[in-house]
Amino acid sequence: SETGCLSVIVLGASGDLAKKKTFPALFNLYRQGFLPADEVHIFGYARTKISDEELRNRLHGYLIQEKNPSPQHSEDLSKFLQLIKYVSGSYDTEEGFKRLDKEISQHEILKNSSEGSSRRLFYLALPPSVYPPVCKMIRKCCMNKSDLGGWTRIVVEKPFGKDLESAENLSAQIGELFDEPQIYRIDHYLGKELVQNLLVLRFANRFFLPLWNRDNIDNVQIVFREDFGTEGRGGYFDEYGIIRDIIQNHLLQVLCLVAMEKPVSLKPEHIRDEKVKVLQSVLPIKDEEVVLGQYHGYRDDPTVPDLSNTPTFASVVLRIHNERWEGVPFILKAGKALNSRKAEIRVQFKDVPGDIFKSKKQGRNEFVIRLQPSEAMYMKLTVKQPGLEMSTVQSELDLSYRQRYQDVAIPEAYERLILDTIRGDQQHFVRRDELRAAWEIFTPLLHRIDNGEIKPIPYRPGSRGPAEADELQAKAGYVQTHGY
Ligand code: BG6
Repeated sequence: SETGCLSVIVLGASGDLAKKKTFPALFNLYRQGFLPADEVHIFGYARTKISDEELRNRLHGYLIQEKNPSPQHSEDLSKFLQLIKYVSGSYDTEEGFKRLDKEISQHEILKNSSEGSSRRLFYLALPPSVYPPVCKMIRKCCMNKSDLGGWTRIVVEKPFGKDLESAENLSAQIGELFDEPQIYRIDHYLGKELVQNLLVLRFANRFFLPLWNRDNIDNVQIVFREDFGTEGRGGYFDEYGIIRDIIQNHLLQVLCLVAMEKPVSLKPEHIRDEKVKVLQSVLPIKDEEVVLGQYHGYRDDPTVPDLSNTPTFASVVLRIHNERWEGVPFILKAGKALNSRKAEIRVQFKDVPGDIFKSKKQGRNEFVIRLQPSEAMYMKLTVKQPGLEMSTVQSELDLSYRQRYQDVAIPEAYERLILDTIRGDQQHFVRRDELRAAWEIFTPLLHRIDNGEIKPIPYRPGSRGPAEADELQAKAGYVQTHGY
């Protein structure tokens, strides 16, 4: 049942993720009417002993968002904060969770009076090491008990394990406590507007159907750049590195949507079935198709070991062994402390056979999907240079979201995904077998890196990353084109 009282419980309520992502997303959903005050209650749970008021005060600064909030905004915010209660307790003993359960139940009685089911959403904004004990406690003490139906769901975030074995281990432990449909594994890239658009783009447009294959596409790049380093979270980052932080999850998910076959329908299981097939078709990564980097100054962070070999940059070529993609390199590249902040997909087409214009020097057709910043899709193509001469020039067909959809506020990834968890839509979440297949691809490489067999090349902060990555890209067939 999708009606009745809804309790959202944010575990790790005073942590970074909760403050920066979870609560702001909840607030935005509230403002848009998706969390009606007569149905919803929000609970924060963490170890720190603070009062409701203290948690609300701490959250206030993160939720204000605007410099000069309108009176409406301020009013919404104070009403929203009143919906939040705080319970403190440890993550591995029953005592705190029993108190939490009591609070939730009281609120359910209050809001439901005599009818309606109850829904309990547990958001684990916590490090994965405590997922197993926390899930155990939820299972034991905090499940929905309403006779009138409802549900209990849990939401977890990456890093979901460190390699195949640890991820499988974690999955098995949680799998004993909750059924797969109750578990929502967030990859927030799946909540981004232009990532969600990929399915529509590919399967609702005649343009792309005949072109989207090895006969026409030369190579695909999926790139993530950030213009800041790992300051403030060096300790976390050093344990994981850029492949686990970005490539194995965010970029690989994007690759699945770019490369998958058409699903039977839009049912989440049908979509995820196709994504798993792509992952299972990826060939083992070759060492010579990997470039790692680490920016100068990374080790200056006091929480990073002096001799750390953790990559803050990686470029990896993946090859999909199937009828559609054989021979087409997918270059996945991610880096911290680079020259810009950008995430984009670049699909580069082959040269025109029997070219009569010598237009090749202008560059190839390229289809670019910019996920951020300023969402856009553009097609780079060759046109006649306007004027009296017959010469060619590279130009663009450009769909910039800011211009085309001026009046539409594009929702934050977390907002969308949290709403999906409440609605019970698993389409944009990672299924257990998908996660396993993703780890299978990267685990051998990660182990070689962890063992020091492949070392990162130093690069200058604010640069494009190691020059070797550009060479790898060129070797894989990418031709630098003009324009943007
Ligand atoms: C997170 C990574 O998953 O994604 C961060 O842990 C990274 O290192 C962030 O900065 C990037 O997300 P976005 O939405 O800003 O591209």
